[in-house]
Amino acid sequence: VEAPVLAIDGPGGAGKGTISRLVAERLGWHLLDSGALYRLTALAAARHNIKLDNEDALEPLAANLDVVFVPGEEGGRVYLESEDVSDIIRTEQAGDRASLVAALPRVRQALLRRQRDFQKPPGLVADGRDMGTVVFPDAELKIFLTASAEERAKRRYLQLREAGEDASLSSLLKEIQARDARDMQRSVAPLIPAEDAIELDTTHLTIPEVVDRVAAFLAQRG
Ligand code: C5P
Repeated sequence: VEAPVLAIDGPGGAGKGTISRLVAERLGWHLLDSGALYRLTALAAARHNIKLDNEDALEPLAANLDVVFVPGEEGGRVYLESEDVSDIIRTEQAGDRASLVAALPRVRQALLRRQRDFQKPPGLVADGRDMGTVVFPDAELKIFLTASAEERAKRRYLQLREAGEDASLSSLLKEIQARDARDMQRSVAPLIPAEDAIELDTTHLTIPEVVDRVAAFLAQRG
């Protein structure tokens, strides 16, 4: 029997990262931050002077990414070619560049097996855009986490400010809307809820409330 998967998909800034990490901690399950793989691919491309539309070069780059995830506080640390890039990959610019490489079918294909390798006992919480639709279609439970674009921009704003980064609420809102559009309109693995996903709107919920609801949905299944 394969280890169970809890797929958590949704647009950027809906709280997937935080919720996935907290739920994984509560369950004692593994965590896959699939967005990090796209962010890392885009960063590796910059390091190797590969343009973000050069699919021929990006495919082997993605397939052979030299990445180490070290679990720990606040999402742990990520190493690319032995360099700690945990902070660099979290910027808005890194996310934006990630969504460009994520639109390339052969890059997505190259990252597929690497993502599925995270499915190990006792279970996996998988955070992304296509966890329930493409990567883990047989997931035990699929949650589609949303929040209004305004609320997501506000959350990002507070997050960035807390990290000591400069940010403007109105430009964050524009970036979020542009990235949503790009993620939803791409032809391969677009951002849409799986048919059997439970949609959870977090606009008016706190983080502990969302964690409780997700855990309750999972308990109902079990
Ligand atoms: O979730 P995160 O903001 O880290 O994702 C960055 C970008 O990577 C997204 O905007 C999306 O374009 C892409 N992505 C994806 N499929 C995933 C996870 C992320 O296409 N499963």
